[in-house]
Amino acid sequence: MSYLLRNKILKAVDNVSLELHKGESLGIAGESGCGKSTLVSAIMRNLSPPGKITAGRIYLDELEITKLSDKEFDSKIRWKKISIIFQGAMNTLDPVYIIKSQIKDIFQTHGQIYDNNKVVKIMENVGLDKSVLEKYPHELSGGMKQRIVIAMALVLEPDIIIADEPTTALDVLVQTQIITLLKKLKEKGISIILISHDLALISELVDKIGIMYAGKIIEFNLTKEIIFSPKHPYTQHLIFSTPQLGDPFREKDIKF
Ligand SMILES: Nc1ncnc2c1ncn2[C@@H]1O[C@H](COP(=O)(O)OP(=O)(O)OP(=O)(O)O)[C@@H](O)[C@H]1O
Ligand SMILES: [Mg+2]
Repeated sequence: MSYLLRNKILKAVDNVSLELHKGESLGIAGESGCGKSTLVSAIMRNLSPPGKITAGRIYLDELEITKLSDKEFDSKIRWKKISIIFQGAMNTLDPVYIIKSQIKDIFQTHGQIYDNNKVVKIMENVGLDKSVLEKYPHELSGGMKQRIVIAMALVLEPDIIIADEPTTALDVLVQTQIITLLKKLKEKGISIILISHDLALISELVDKIGIMYAGKIIEFNLTKEIIFSPKHPYTQHLIFSTPQLGDPFREKDIKF
């Protein structure tokens, strides 16, 4: 996946290889700008211009989805097989429509009839009362809006949910609630790709982690291996830089 800048091709993501099995969850972590959002935007064909995929293949079961036309991808894969919660999605809810209208749109775009019972059940699954459907985004807290975008990702019952920094800008308690919610979805058999720069947070949920640096996956392993015996020096630094409350070794370096 590359961006064309001043007639020069810059590879934002290069030579990345990942595998996700049914019901499994995969975390992608790495510093800001390393290419996490570019990677998932490429999977979902949402690269912003001048970004484009220059090489590579993506398979969903036996189907090579990179071979599908945009129209086929939109009708067969997007929302139905893979849903993405974009970074900052909760801030992109349309301010002039109530939540129900925005969810109706998803059904209509896919030629389906709005199913209120199903939507109310999904709202319950994400911990929201059905009355929230009648509200405008400005009437909801950040945590509620984040649950709404997760609910929206669920309405067409996808097999895979990609969540790009779903807990950023939320307080730690709401962060934990969102991770618990994603855990419940995982228990229901949904595969999850969770992107975050917060290694401690994602390690609570994911089975395996890919560490990205400068557009490449530099280490890919089971979560416990990454956390307790990181091999790559960058992963080691990333883990060391994760703040740990009550760690006396770190506290002595903190000066007020
Ligand atoms: N539309 C664009 N045009 C040119 N370069 C871009 C574009 N979008 C992203 N980039 C560049 O691609 C690189 C990867 O960006 P990306 O948004 O994928 O990082 P990220 O890992 O998601 O960062 P963050 O943790 O801050 O969300 C960055 O160097 C960024 O500047
Ligand atoms: Mg990003």
